[in-house]
Amino acid sequence: MGKIIRAELYICNMAKVTISHIKADIGSLPGHTTVYEPVVAEVRRYVKEHSGSILSDFYISHIGDDIQITMIHDRGIDSEEVHRIAWDAFKAGTAVAKSVGLYGAGQDLLKDAFSGNIKGMGPGVAEMEITPRKSEPFLVYMMDKTEPGAFNYPIYKMFADPFNTPGLVIDPNMHEGFTFEIWDIIAGKKIYLSTPENIYDLLAMIGSKSKYVIKRVYTKSSHEKLPDENVAVITTDKLSFIAGEYVGKDDPAAVVRIQSGLPASGEAMEAFSHPFLVSGWMRGSFNGPLMPVGMKDSKMTRFDGPPRVVGLGFVLKDGKLTGPVDMFDDPAFDGARRKAGEITEYIRRMGPFEPHRLPDEEMEYTTLPKVLDKFKDQFEMIESSIKKKKNLVSTKDTD
Ligand code: 13P
Ligand code: 13P
Ligand code: MG
Ligand code: MG
Repeated sequence: MGKIIRAELYICNMAKVTISHIKADIGSLPGHTTVYEPVVAEVRRYVKEHSGSILSDFYISHIGDDIQITMIHDRGIDSEEVHRIAWDAFKAGTAVAKSVGLYGAGQDLLKDAFSGNIKGMGPGVAEMEITPRKSEPFLVYMMDKTEPGAFNYPIYKMFADPFNTPGLVIDPNMHEGFTFEIWDIIAGKKIYLSTPENIYDLLAMIGSKSKYVIKRVYTKSSHEKLPDENVAVITTDKLSFIAGEYVGKDDPAAVVRIQSGLPASGEAMEAFSHPFLVSGWMRGSFNGPLMPVGMKDSKMTRFDGPPRVVGLGFVLKDGKLTGPVDMFDDPAFDGARRKAGEITEYIRRMGPFEPHRLPDEEMEYTTLPKVLDKFKDQFEMIESSIKKKKNLVSTKDTD
């Protein structure tokens, strides 16, 4: 009898499920190239041992030097217990990273003590509470050597561009469009815009990808299968805003639900078939192409890049994950990889020049201001130096 009651409670609790994806760079080998397997294993061991009654399932993965924890639970977003598991797992992994002298051990753990919520402490967080469907397929995208705004282009393509996602035209549930939650990460403000009605306004903002970032996408209330649901979420944490200086890029991740009234798996993947330019790469200071890769190529060697994206495909049922599928491990993406290689050859020839190197405003949080600082007293006003020169000439004339 007791068992039956517990089972009912379980179903009731699982009516809503939360997917929490939390990631951090806690040390890399040899530079910012890739993770060290024993560190990943320690993070996995810690999460496994401490998941207890809190997590119904989890998956640990990585891209480049960033370890990624995908957790399934029923505690909602911003759960202290869930965030604490991730924070303490990263702490445990950092101890292993330090013991072998990994580069940048504990890089993204910017605060000493956990104070109830991992946001603002360094790790990137993408969480959504969902009403799971009979089949709940979703994709986790992870990027290294770039910033949260790198997701603006592909998320727009998936949920608002009918040339990428014909479902927007031919599936009656998608035809109504979606609602985008946009964050101005400089001003700390947000706005909701509805597509297709506000596509031009949306693009006016999200084209400025270092200021406006897509945080979430929702279905509209007219969606027959899944009204008013959060269907995509992106990490938007800016490390430099927390640390006040460059401590590595804010390599982002996203969770995107797919199928039945949402972009099909292949429509979500198609958004990465063109290697668009993103900011990040070497020292977080360069523009370069985003290369879609399978897990086996998740290693940032050339000029610490080029920036990359990995995609993992899951289905979720009764709190349990099945998968993942390594989504970009497909020869159909060879063309995108080849083109990213060609763009790399082309743009690298520019060395330290813009627009390969980022514009001045975005170099503010790098080490460049330190180089320029020593010249600040040597600069003269151009007008007065012309006058000075003129005076010199006229004194000579009278001699
Ligand atoms: P669903 O609407 O059943 O998700 O099918 C769309 C699809 O997968 C076409 O590729
Ligand atoms: P990460 O942000 O991936 O640590 O890379 C930092 C860097 O400076 C690469 O050159
Ligand atoms: Mg790093
Ligand atoms: Mg990284």
